[in-house]
Amino acid sequence: MYKAIIAGLGKYLPDNVVTNNDLKKVMDTSDEWIVERTGIQERRHIIKGSGDTTASMGAEAAKIALERAQCAAEEVDLILFATLSPDYYFPGSGVLVQELLAIPDCPAMDIRNQCSGFVYALATADQFVRTGMYKNVLVIGSENHSGGLDMSTRGRNVSVIFGDGAGAALVTRYDGNDDRGILSSHLHSEGKHAEELSLIGPSTNRWVPQIMEENDPEDTSYYPYMNGQFVFKNAVVRFSEVIKEGLLQNQLAAEDIKLLVPHQANLRIAQFVQKKFGLGEDQVYNNIQRYGNTTAASIPIALTEAWEEGRVKQGDLVVLAAFGSGFTWGSSIIKW
Ligand SMILES: CC(C)(COP(=O)(O)OP(=O)(O)OC[C@H]1O[C@@H](n2cnc3c(N)ncnc32)[C@H](O)[C@@H]1OP(=O)(O)O)[C@@H](O)C(=O)NCCC(=O)NCCS
Repeated sequence: MYKAIIAGLGKYLPDNVVTNNDLKKVMDTSDEWIVERTGIQERRHIIKGSGDTTASMGAEAAKIALERAQCAAEEVDLILFATLSPDYYFPGSGVLVQELLAIPDCPAMDIRNQCSGFVYALATADQFVRTGMYKNVLVIGSENHSGGLDMSTRGRNVSVIFGDGAGAALVTRYDGNDDRGILSSHLHSEGKHAEELSLIGPSTNRWVPQIMEENDPEDTSYYPYMNGQFVFKNAVVRFSEVIKEGLLQNQLAAEDIKLLVPHQANLRIAQFVQKKFGLGEDQVYNNIQRYGNTTAASIPIALTEAWEEGRVKQGDLVVLAAFGSGFTWGSSIIKW
């Protein structure tokens, strides 16, 4: 068995900053409400016509990750693209990134696991590297939420939370004799709660012609739906369980964690988890305040920023954990 490490990280955020006060102009909300319930102060929204897309943002983040890993486009063996907001219904965004970065004919695969997408993709990359099938796997998380949110008061419980952006990691085979590497991945899902955080139309369940024919002004099926309190309650339990599972498998304790990078769902969820494991402020990385919840992009964006700030160094124990729609959840335990 080979070992895999993250050899390079990158991120891309659209320039357009949307503050809580900006949202007040289009819906009945307040900076106080949003900050108190979620911790979010601002997020990025793509400006229409700017040329930013899910794939283009992913490609920009990937370029930086490849450069930092000193990996040429021709050396990429597999592209894994995690998103819930792909450019097209089909094909996936992975092939679009392949074209944008002029990566020759390696396989490209989209991963549909919403907020857990990056953790699922990283686990998949790790397996391909471990078996020796591939050496360099480009893992991307990218989301373009803003164009598809209900920005009226009706959709405020969801639309204040989500932001746009992308992050990427180059997962590569590591031949060193030390204990570096992705130590383990822990993935779960529970389909019985699929509709509690979902977007059910347009889809094969609700084709566009049907939506158009009904022409119902009250129809919200093509906006994301979230049962906020139910999601919150499940998230705090599953985050805690899956981090514990990862630590136990590796015979590690919470105090061994150098940095926990949780999916940036909600600052209150991250703070709950921090308290539960008795972690200090310096052991948890949060940037939801500036970017909102960027779903599959949130962990690679946060991890990139943490690395850029010198908070992730060789030999550190880094834990990633995510929970989201599906429900799906997971963790990665990494010796950096
Ligand atoms: C979404 C969330 C912040 C809402 O907070 P909450 O305390 O559950 O709030 P509720 O939905 O019960 O709403 C409370 C009130 O605030 C109102 N409200 C909802 N969104 C609002 C907004 N953006 N601004 C102002 N008021 C808002 C509601 O209409 C409700 O008003 P009412 O009491 O008059 O009916 C919270 O449920 C949450 O964080 N859930 C988890 C979300 C998450 O992490 N999702 C991503 C998972 S990956």
